Amino acid sequence: MEKRVAVLQGDGIGPEVTSAAVRILEVVARRFNHTFHFDYGSIGGEAIDSFNDPLPKETIELCESSDAVLLGAVGGPKWDRNPSELRPEKGLLAIRKHFDLFANLRPVKAVPSLLQASPLKEEIVREVDMMIVRELTGGIYFGLPSRKTATAAVDTLVYTREEIERIVEKAFELARMRRGKVTSVDKANVLESSKLWREVVEEKRQRYPDVEVEHQLVDSAAMKLITNPKAFDVVVTENMFGDILSDEASVITGSLGLMPSASVRSDGFGLYEPVHGSAPDVAGMGIANPAAAILSAAMMLRYSFGMDTEAAAIEKAVDTVFEDGHFTADLAGSTDRALSTTEWTDKVIGELDLQFVSN
Ligand code: NAD
Ligand code: IPM
Ligand code: MN
Repeated sequence: MEKRVAVLQGDGIGPEVTSAAVRILEVVARRFNHTFHFDYGSIGGEAIDSFNDPLPKETIELCESSDAVLLGAVGGPKWDRNPSELRPEKGLLAIRKHFDLFANLRPVKAVPSLLQASPLKEEIVREVDMMIVRELTGGIYFGLPSRKTATAAVDTLVYTREEIERIVEKAFELARMRRGKVTSVDKANVLESSKLWREVVEEKRQRYPDVEVEHQLVDSAAMKLITNPKAFDVVVTENMFGDILSDEASVITGSLGLMPSASVRSDGFGLYEPVHGSAPDVAGMGIANPAAAILSAAMMLRYSFGMDTEAAAIEKAVDTVFEDGHFTADLAGSTDRALSTTEWTDKVIGELDLQFVSN
């Protein structure tokens, strides 16, 4: 197959981890006889510096002419004092909205060889396998009015029935392909938008009698997520709750650097982005964990290109590298044992090559 991939590296560790993911995709292309074209575009802080716009129209056009988008991360202290419209994060929100990428899939899976990397007890973490389905183009991130004066500030949390319906349906469909359970997380004891959310879940469940449904309030869900994470299969929730809960869930896996995500709509087009940010504290040091970006690339192969075998090959190679005891600094415990971003990526490439020698 021939595919065009727009690569938006962004800021901080974005270029470091996306370069690693592109290297992996190049190996996959060679091994499986595909042609991937990589075209680079600007987003976030670096786009503000070059175009005075966190999402230049050139970038939108590039993505429109691509089959999928691979994104690094945006943001950093350099732009933190910018006015709202000129913040790197605006570029990320704008690209999600422009392409209507309403469903953000954030898998949380305990890697057997990494159980000790989590500060949680091994018996809590073992066998965790959940999918957080985060609504990505609505809610308080996008509601109007949104403004601040010296004496007051307002953000608006609004959801339409249609917006809730499509994300809830997505969650039910995913649950059917997994263990058949949906946990809907809301704040229906306080928020009107959550009451509507809960109503929609109750309506939709009629069409999915095979799927078990539970509702949880977000505060106690945050607690249960790390006291009994095995109890979750598919977690569906609104934009901001999903943002917060997914960083919390990274504690189960042992590092934010392990958490991939897919931001998709219904027709297969998608943007693939690690859950983590630009990590200014380690940017430029060559030590970032590229696993989240590499696993996001695997999600791209699976969800946008229908390349399940290729995606599984990447995931297996990543697992094997961990089993063999190779880690970047975020997971190594001590830095003298840690591999650099490039060295760790080399190991994954070595594993991919080995899969072909042994087949
Ligand atoms: P962050 O995710 O960038 O970093 C949090 C912590 O995790 C840091 O200590 C960092 O070093 C570590 N970390 C994250 N990814 C890592 C990796 N791959 N390897 C090793 N360590 C990793 O969150 P933050 O510090 O709160 O935010 C920094 C900037 O990133 C902010 O400007 C924020 O807006 C932005 N951000 C962007 C995205 C995105 O582009 N998708 C996501 C989150 C935050
Ligand atoms: C994420 C990030 C973004 C979000 C920020 C950078 C706008 O935290 O992708 O999780 O809140 O969605
Ligand atoms: Mn986040």
